[in-house]
Amino acid sequence: MSHPQRVTVLGATGSIGTSTLDVIARHPERYQVFALTAHTSRETLLSQCIEHRPAIAVLAQEEDAQWLRSALRQARVATEVAVGEQALVDVAQDSSVDIVMAAIVGAAGLLPALAAASAGKRVLLANKEALVMSGALFMQAVETAQATLLPIDSEHNAIYQCLPSEHRGGLDRHGISQLLLTASGGPFRTWPREALATVTPEQACAHPNWSMGRKISVDSATLMNKGLELIEACWLFDAAPEQIQVVVHPQSVIHSMAAYHDGSVLAQLGNPDMRTPIAYGLAWPERIDAGVAALDLFQVARLDFEAPDEARFPCLRLAREAMQQGGTAPAILNAANEVAVEAFLAKRLGFNAISDVVAAVLNDQAAEPAHHLDIVLNADQHARRAAQQWVKHYTG
Ligand SMILES: NC(=O)c1ccc[n+]([C@@H]2O[C@H](COP(=O)([O-])OP(=O)(O)OC[C@H]3O[C@@H](n4cnc5c(N)ncnc54)[C@H](OP(=O)(O)O)[C@@H]3O)[C@@H](O)[C@H]2O)c1
Repeated sequence: MSHPQRVTVLGATGSIGTSTLDVIARHPERYQVFALTAHTSRETLLSQCIEHRPAIAVLAQEEDAQWLRSALRQARVATEVAVGEQALVDVAQDSSVDIVMAAIVGAAGLLPALAAASAGKRVLLANKEALVMSGALFMQAVETAQATLLPIDSEHNAIYQCLPSEHRGGLDRHGISQLLLTASGGPFRTWPREALATVTPEQACAHPNWSMGRKISVDSATLMNKGLELIEACWLFDAAPEQIQVVVHPQSVIHSMAAYHDGSVLAQLGNPDMRTPIAYGLAWPERIDAGVAALDLFQVARLDFEAPDEARFPCLRLAREAMQQGGTAPAILNAANEVAVEAFLAKRLGFNAISDVVAAVLNDQAAEPAHHLDIVLNADQHARRAAQQWVKHYTG
């Protein structure tokens, strides 16, 4: 390799962002950080800048940026500090960048992730909401710019590893009958629906196997995360929703599987640690040390599987239906979910009402063909306003 690959980490201060920097720090000869971005976590961003010396750091507010500039001056670190949404897009598409880790949470990550794809980068996609909102446009951008899209979600990364290297054009064409998307079932897997009414954000964020940001932790507890992943898998692997089976697997050791027409089922296994898919994405097609402990099958001892209960966890069904409906329906689902989860985390909405809000917004707002980004962004804004009203209704 002639020079270290230059990496932009969007959402550097989050769970995926910090795991990415952990892997990068193990391989200084291979990777050099070009840009790090955060929303408001200026102290964490400062220590990351001191350790990784990026050319550029990005924050959302000018006041935080001024604080960071002055702290960096004191620490004698020459990182330039930029502000706002356009700066996120700029560091994602900068001509000196080779790899972009898209790890901003939610719809806020769409434009920079799309910019990285349109600029033909190697895009490591953790921000599943980007594909959920605008899958057709995103995949088109990847193809037009000949970008390399590598899924970081552990399930999609597992499926990617179980598929032939060329897998575009539909599953059947490659002898694949079904994708088996595993789900831990979340912290409330065995709870009755009535008991779910009173769960707190702290309980919802205490995931049994994975340590993650708060929004995705709640999504895992409602199974909306699996619904978003089902949509994501449809786009990544040219699959119809009916070709994807969700399998609850409480140990989270099998990260997902591909079933072939000859009866073979290929699975990828590992400890539940996001540094494995992150290292895979960074080094692909090579393999590098991720700092992850070897899997001890004797300690795992058993692997269990069960069907998801869509009566207790309706978000999974809502997501599948939104994908079947197509157009802007997944963007509407995603926006309503983001608003409802935020209200739940702020203790303004009950856990079961998250799916009620999403269902009500999907019911109210007609989906349109998603031919342009503006149409998607309008549908997103409209759904957010409607969801705010429904949150008031359910709390009111
Ligand atoms: N965590 C996992 O294990 C995991 C697994 C698979 C997929 N994913 C996906 O990866 C993405 C990130 O998840 P996470 O768990 O790492 O989330 P997280 O811990 O909440 O981190 C989110 C990151 O995005 C930044 N951010 C938040 N809102 C922003 C905004 N409006 N504009 C710009 N930046 C913003 C945050 O900055 P501040 O720190 O300043 O708020 C932080 O750096 C999500 O799409 C999630 O679904 C995560």
